[in-house]
Amino acid sequence: MKLTLHVWRQKNEQDKGRMVRYEVTDANEHMSFLEMLDVLNESLIAKGEDPIAFDHDCREGICGMCGFMINGKAHGGHKGTTVCQLHMRHFKDGDVLYLEPWRAKPFPIVKDLAVNRSAFDRIIAAGGYITAPTGSAPDGNAIPVPKQDADLAMDAAACIGCGACVAACPNAAAALFTGAKISHLGHLPQGQAERQRRAMAMVDQMNAERFANCTNIGECEAACPKEIKIEVIAFTNRDYIKAAFTERPESAVSGSG
Ligand code: SF4
Ligand code: FES
Repeated sequence: MKLTLHVWRQKNEQDKGRMVRYEVTDANEHMSFLEMLDVLNESLIAKGEDPIAFDHDCREGICGMCGFMINGKAHGGHKGTTVCQLHMRHFKDGDVLYLEPWRAKPFPIVKDLAVNRSAFDRIIAAGGYITAPTGSAPDGNAIPVPKQDADLAMDAAACIGCGACVAACPNAAAALFTGAKISHLGHLPQGQAERQRRAMAMVDQMNAERFANCTNIGECEAACPKEIKIEVIAFTNRDYIKAAFTERPESAVSGSG
């Protein structure tokens, strides 16, 4: 299988960056997309050239490390699929593919296709926890959780923090990611103690990281490899507005973004 790749090469955040064309002649349909890039990188290293930098870890669709745009689609645009789980059988001999990093100001380029997503870590640190006494593990059934709430919490907890939602959003909003984290804990009894404070702190941090506002376009939901539903944003907005009316009435008018 032969492919022409146009890959964004950028040495660091300051570098201007440019598209570089590569001809891949030894890909096959059994490879994952990242394995195809591994083969290209080995050939670049053999020629003494700089390999293409891209993030990856588990290569099983669970860690959230991988992610870049293929022909303008986050993770390549296959429903519910991270780029590490995307296989070359979805492409044709002779295809021309454009590979670009997530493009969003809060995700500065590290190198080539790798971006710095530590803004997400800071949003989680702002409120992605519960207060619980330490000690031995409590009985799993000590706190009953209604099935519907458990299901909604688990669906939201599927978010792997990849950043595709931000990259796909024309506004570069992080509302789907932040909403997934807020809904995950907000649907559980253990998350109730800090529920409103959590929504306010995480949304404030999201705004401080300079992610733009959500305007309900829905590209995030379509691009999300874990199929997080846009309803998590409505959940966030309800909690944020409720908290803002109590604690900060002047900000309740502008909403969470
Ligand atoms: S909401 Fe989906 S697209 Fe956004 S970070 Fe989580 S898993 Fe990735
Ligand atoms: S490398 Fe872990 S989700 Fe892709």
